[in-house]
Amino acid sequence: MSRIVVIGATGHVGSYLIPRLVEAGHNVVAVSRGIRDPYRTDAAWQHVERVALDRDAGDADGSFAPAIAGLGADIVVDMMCFTEDSAAQLVEALRGRVDLLVSCGTIWVHGTAVAVPTTETDARRPFGEYGVGKAAIEKLLLAES
Ligand SMILES: NC(=O)c1ccc[n+]([C@@H]2O[C@H](COP(=O)([O-])OP(=O)(O)OC[C@H]3O[C@@H](n4cnc5c(N)ncnc54)[C@H](OP(=O)(O)O)[C@@H]3O)[C@@H](O)[C@H]2O)c1
Repeated sequence: MSRIVVIGATGHVGSYLIPRLVEAGHNVVAVSRGIRDPYRTDAAWQHVERVALDRDAGDADGSFAPAIAGLGADIVVDMMCFTEDSAAQLVEALRGRVDLLVSCGTIWVHGTAVAVPTTETDARRPFGEYGVGKAAIEKLLLAES
């Protein structure tokens, strides 16, 4: 059993991920602002510790990453990272304190697909704030790995 902190836990992905982690026997901490409820009701949520934090505000004043580090996770799953600076703050705060940091990326790091299926080894030509930001996060995390 691991203590797993999921940042952005009640969205498209987290709504389904959290119950699966609980059912797998993990101690799960769900971080979000507390504005959205999970898409599906599931009894597993009764066993989840909910923590209200705002990533944007906390990144701006430097409090978010230390707050995540203070949750004492073995594993952090980051579903809500969109800038290199945000990723770097989290990496620094978690360095040496967790076994694993999982960051959710996107196929948009590749830009316009030139082959289907696009694989991880294909060229990265991201465009737009979202794709460029996710590609920068990926580069940072791969260099740290
Ligand atoms: N959905 C897709 O089709 C798709 C495709 C490719 C990649 N991805 C990637 O998957 C990841 C997760 O996406 P998703 O679709 O699951 O997201 P989502 O449905 O937008 O869910 C966002 C989650 O983060 C929380 N949140 C939003 N703003 C926050 C903030 N400032 N501070 C703390 N929590 C915040 C939301 O709850 P509150 O509003 O209550 O805070 C919610 O739990 C992203 O990194 C995205 O790039 C998604």
